[in-house]
Amino acid sequence: MARELNEVGVVGLGTMGAGITEVLARAGLRVTAVEVNDEALARGRGHLEHSTDRAVSRGKLEAAERDEIFERIRFSTSLEDLASAELVIEAIPERMELKAEIFAALDKICPPDTILATNTSSLSVTELSVVTGRPSKVIGMHFFNPAPVMKLVEVVQTVVTEPEVVADVEALAERLGKVDVTIGDRAGFIANALLFGYLNHAVSMFENRYASREDIDAAMRLGCGLPMGPLALMDLIGIDTAYEILDTMYKQSRNRLHAPSPIIKQMMTAGLLGRKSGRGFYTYA
Ligand code: CAA
Repeated sequence: MARELNEVGVVGLGTMGAGITEVLARAGLRVTAVEVNDEALARGRGHLEHSTDRAVSRGKLEAAERDEIFERIRFSTSLEDLASAELVIEAIPERMELKAEIFAALDKICPPDTILATNTSSLSVTELSVVTGRPSKVIGMHFFNPAPVMKLVEVVQTVVTEPEVVADVEALAERLGKVDVTIGDRAGFIANALLFGYLNHAVSMFENRYASREDIDAAMRLGCGLPMGPLALMDLIGIDTAYEILDTMYKQSRNRLHAPSPIIKQMMTAGLLGRKSGRGFYTYA
């Protein structure tokens, strides 16, 4: 029987961490959400307020339910507040050295049976697991953007993840109303390994001026029935995140499909990060 996890920590309250926190609190779990400083914490809280206010204004959520969601969330700037968490989900930027630092710290703070999960999109879960003294309790729990909407959770097991830990996390994903798929630790897991070659190709088509951004997106939306065209999706994912994912997959596989199109790095350097910065392939109000 899977262990019921009720006390969860989330580290990092960017687009994904805030979305994951919302999903957990909506499902009735108690969440401690940790950011690095007060400013980042306020920004993360802002993401959550924006998302839940929007649900209230659309009549999808009662105002009282929104208040209950916030009562279940403790906002903090101290990892020490995760000392009683049964599961911690890390959702900080895609940089191995930063994640490794957080995992090493969590390993010292949390009890030995706490499951340490990463929401990484492409970095090695195995590499992260070995910075802790509990590699068998380390797992990938990869949500999709926007986390409150997308149904999938990829559960990533390394060669040493305990089957019980996999079962606990699968059961949690189902309790959150998600559908889980399980995969071994390979760059990009299932969805990103298949998605990002396509996105990169669309960027290259735009960069080489074969078609306008609107026409590339319209072709895939209207011709292939996708909810969003590839360039609009790049903006949703974030140009910096997309770059990190492509770069990691390229370094692992050397498959040219994943060699980031030059314009992605240029946009990143210029601060055109997509929706989150107000401008990417498109401009946002
Ligand atoms: N937070 C919460 N809810 C949101 C939301 C957000 N950021 N964005 C949209 N929604 C909700 C809306 O409230 C609405 O809910 P209801 O139907 O209950 O009212 C619903 O989603 C549909 O939204 P909209 O009508 O505003 O817009 P839409 O129909 O165009 O849908 C979309 C928006 C869900 C983003 C849709 O375009 C879509 O599915 N796009 C593809 C997204 C995708 O592929 N994501 C995966 C990216 S890859 C990834 O995440 C992996 C990685 O590691 C980078």
